[in-house]
Amino acid sequence: MKKILCVVGTRPEAIKMAPVILALRSQPWADVSVLATGQHRQMLDQVLKFFGIVANHDLDVMQPNQGLNELTARLLVGAGQILEKDRPDVVLVQGDTTTVMAVAMASFYKQIPVGHVEAGLRTGDIFNPFPEEANRVIAGRLAHWHFAPTDRAKANLLKESIAPEKIEVTGNTVIDALLTIADQELEMGVDLPPHERLILVTAHRRENFGQPLREVCRSIRYLAKNNPHVCFLYPVHPNPNVKDVAEKILAGLGNVVLCKPLDYAPFVAAMKKACIIISDSGGVQEEAPALGKPVLVLRRETERPEAVANGTVKLVGTDFETIVAEAQLLLDNPAAYHAMARGVSPYGDGNASLRIVERLARDLL
Ligand code: UD1
Ligand code: UDP
Repeated sequence: MKKILCVVGTRPEAIKMAPVILALRSQPWADVSVLATGQHRQMLDQVLKFFGIVANHDLDVMQPNQGLNELTARLLVGAGQILEKDRPDVVLVQGDTTTVMAVAMASFYKQIPVGHVEAGLRTGDIFNPFPEEANRVIAGRLAHWHFAPTDRAKANLLKESIAPEKIEVTGNTVIDALLTIADQELEMGVDLPPHERLILVTAHRRENFGQPLREVCRSIRYLAKNNPHVCFLYPVHPNPNVKDVAEKILAGLGNVVLCKPLDYAPFVAAMKKACIIISDSGGVQEEAPALGKPVLVLRRETERPEAVANGTVKLVGTDFETIVAEAQLLLDNPAAYHAMARGVSPYGDGNASLRIVERLARDLL
C-alpha cells in the first residue's frame, strides 16, 4: 500500500482534487487520506459535502480577511505537523493557492515527494495574478510530478528546465468534475426576476481589489440599467474586500441579484442557464468553454491562453468602457455571440484524474 495525502484548501482546489481523490480511492494499492487546510471554510465545506468527501485532517486556518504572511505561517506549521504524524509516501496538491505553495514547501522540508495537479500554468508576470503566479512557480520548483493540463502548460515547465520525464499531460481535472454533473437536470435554487437572458458574474482576484473591482461593479450597474430585460446573477465571494464593494455599488437594482456563493451543482446550473459569463475566475475560464458559454475575463493577462486562442474566452480587463462595450456587443450581435459560444474545450476530456492515477501507479508500484 502507498499512502497518498491529498490536500485541499479552497473551493476550486476541492472541485479539482475531488475527482482525483475519488479515482485514487478505487485503487487497491492506494491508502488515501485528505488534508483540508480550511484556507476557505464555508466554501471548502460546500464542495467536500457535494462530492461526499470527509477530510481526515482539518487545519481550520481561515481567519476573517486573512493576510498572506499569517496564512502562510499557519499553513506551513500545521501541514508540517500532519506530515510528521502521517508520513505519507506522496503528497498531492492542486493549483496555485497559498495552501499549495505552503504545503509543497512543508512536504519538501520533510523530503516527501509532491505531485502538482494543474502544473505549468504561467502568465510570466509575478504580480499577475497575485499571489498565484509565485505560488505555482514555487510549487513547480519543489514538485516531483507535474500533472500539466495542456501541452502549453508542459512547454512552460520545459522552459523552466523541469525534466520531461517528470511531466504528464493529463487534461484539467475540472472537466472531470464538470462532466460528472453537467448533463443532469440541475437547479440553481435562486429566485430570479422575469427576464429574457441571464448574465452570470463572479469576481475575487486580489489584484483587482479597490478601484478595478469598483470599475467592474460600475460596469455591471451600467449594463443592468441599459438592459432591463437581462438579469445579472452575481454570487458574491465572502471576502470583505469583494462583498462590501459589490453590495455597495450593485444594491437596489431590480435586475441584479446578489447571492451567497452557490454550491457547485447550482453554480453549474447557473453557467448553463447564462448566455454570457463575466468573471475573473480561473476555473470558470475552463468550465464555460466546455458548456459553450462565452466568458469575458476581468483580467489583463491569463495563464489559460488556450481558450483565448480558440476564441471562446476574451480578456477585457477591468476598464469600465471595455467591459460595457464587449458585453453589449455579445448581447446585440448574434454573429459575435455565436463566434464565441462554440462549445469547444481545450482543457480535457474528463479523464485527467485517471491519467494521474495511472502515472502514480506506474512510478510507485
Ligand atoms: C483564494 C486563493 C485564490 C483562489 C481563490 C478561490 C490565495 C492567496 N488565494 O482567494 O488563489 O483563486 O481562493 O476562491 O491562496 N472567506 C470566507 N469564507 C470562505 C472563504 C473565504 O469568509 O469560505 C473570506 C474570509 O474573510 C477570508 C477571505 O475570504 O479571510 C479571503 O480568503 P483567501 O483564501 O485568503 O482568499 P481568496 O480571495 O478566497
Ligand atoms: N463556483 C461555485 N460556486 C460559485 C462560484 C464558483 O461552485 O458561486 C465554482 C466554479 O464552478 C469553479 C470554481 O468554483 O469550478 C472556481 O472557483 P473560484 O472562482 O473561487 O477560484 P479560481 O478558479 O479563480 O481559483
